[in-house]
Amino acid sequence: MRRWALAALLLALLALPAAAGAHPGDPLGGHGTLNPQGAGAKVLGHEIRTLLIMGGAVYLLVVGLLAAIIVRQRRRPATDEPLPEDDGSARRWIWLGGLALPLVVISAVLAVSAGTLTALGKPGRDPRRTIEAIGHRWWWEFRYPSDGITTANEIAVPVGETITVRLRTKDVIHSFWVPELTRKVDMTPGKVSSVAITAERPGIFRGECAEFCGLQHARMTLRVLALEPGEFESWRRAQLRDPVPPATPAARAGQRVFLSTCAACHTIEGTEAAGQVGPDLTHLASRRTIAGGTLENTRGNLGGWISDPQAIKRGAQMPPASLDGDELQALLDYLGTLK
Ligand code: CUA
Repeated sequence: MRRWALAALLLALLALPAAAGAHPGDPLGGHGTLNPQGAGAKVLGHEIRTLLIMGGAVYLLVVGLLAAIIVRQRRRPATDEPLPEDDGSARRWIWLGGLALPLVVISAVLAVSAGTLTALGKPGRDPRRTIEAIGHRWWWEFRYPSDGITTANEIAVPVGETITVRLRTKDVIHSFWVPELTRKVDMTPGKVSSVAITAERPGIFRGECAEFCGLQHARMTLRVLALEPGEFESWRRAQLRDPVPPATPAARAGQRVFLSTCAACHTIEGTEAAGQVGPDLTHLASRRTIAGGTLENTRGNLGGWISDPQAIKRGAQMPPASLDGDELQALLDYLGTLK
């Protein structure tokens, strides 16, 4: 019975990495390394699978040999007979299992990895659009230089088009990683790097900062919305429009609160707010999350975040706003109009 339990445990260990590829079905974006949906991620997925199979085969071979030795030793009756003459088979095991096999396996691993590196280094097919990604502690600034769009923590890309993402950082080292689309690329101070992404199907793909960058490193996520070309065009046009001026008295009051309290750090196109410290909020209401992906973008969460950001994300640069209830509600009315 115990032998079966041991065998089940060994098999479970082998199956564990495969579970990492499961798609969690998160409405805010999938996140599986083994569920590639883009060109770069496919190359990596192939490498991961190949190495897992090779590693798994070696593991099974070693466990199998161990089991065979144990079974053979147990079956042999205890005797005082001397050990049989050395016929050279022990040495053969050492040459084959200790030298020849590892040489073949490690050379194969090297060849697969070299192929992956070459494939990942290629720029991708005909990139026409560039997105700038700028890492901040702890959020992502995104710019579409040819369109003049600035946004935060969320980018849209057209399905099937190769996009160059140019990466830099405003402060410390961050790392851009959207597991379903491509590899990790570090954002090093003083250096501009780039990576090509091509989303091959529509969807929301979650990305992470993959380099420890301080207290809230774990709360620095991004979303890539892969849209059909027509939908992408609508998204692009919507981002280019200045928000409609607030129509209700409450929203107008909220805009006054914004301009006196938040405008030193945040920009809203079409208003006097032109702060450069925090995210551009021109189309805040169209985003799925706030605070670098920490919270879903709902009125309640936004109110909590504005009132006490340090309780939600300690160390964030956002200070608490000292507003009374009416001012906060008016501000939330106004922010809700920033579609
Ligand atoms: Cu930015 Cu970790």
